[in-house]
Amino acid sequence: MKRNIQLTTLFAFTLAAVLVCVADFSARGQKVKADDDEASKIERGFAIAPVPLNLAGKNRALVGLGSYIVNAQGSCNECHTNPSFKFGGNPFLGQPEQVNTDGYLAGGQAFGPFISRNLTPNAEGLPAGLTFDQFRHIIRTGADDDKLPPNAPSYDHDLLQVMPWPVFSKMTDRDLRAIYEYLSAIPSRPGYPQ
Ligand code: HEC
Repeated sequence: MKRNIQLTTLFAFTLAAVLVCVADFSARGQKVKADDDEASKIERGFAIAPVPLNLAGKNRALVGLGSYIVNAQGSCNECHTNPSFKFGGNPFLGQPEQVNTDGYLAGGQAFGPFISRNLTPNAEGLPAGLTFDQFRHIIRTGADDDKLPPNAPSYDHDLLQVMPWPVFSKMTDRDLRAIYEYLSAIPSRPGYPQ
């Protein structure tokens, strides 16, 4: 009887140990998979960036990930480049896509009275002239801190009206960081409407 109890205890311990190992192994497997997913996004991000990137002083992984989010997910070019495509390079007309690299993300597209803003780095290297904290605040809240007209719904509570911030506001801090890092690395195009 005593021997049986010992055997049962031994069995229970062994089973527990095996279960812990399996759980650990599968958690590690998931982490490796997540790392792989991110690595392939970073790689794809660099492959699809339509402009040369200035990586000096930048976090390379974040730039690549940011390019993936901006160019494969966020549709930023659709609204923030005017026109979005070069003449003869409009995919909507069945032409092989050629992004308008000269005006890439430099804003100036009109949506009724609302004009998209220049997202390229200013002379100090800040995208859209914004620090990361300002950028994150704008994307998270939609606040138009520049208070550019038309001011809607009111001057005191001025919110971006075209920009899909209610969707982008749900991104992780890391994704917003990545977008910001990528926007810091694209060519500066001063002179477009801020
Ligand atoms: C549907 C069109 C559209 C898309 C897609 C879009 N934007 Fe915008 N965005 C705008 C417009 C228009 C404005 C300014 C006016 C407004 O929305 O009221 C703006 C404003 C902004 C601002 C505020 C700039 C400032 O100085 O206050 C930032 C930052 C911004 N966009 C970043 C992005 C990024 C990054 C993406 C892609 C991840 C993106 N936008 C995608 C249309 C768009």
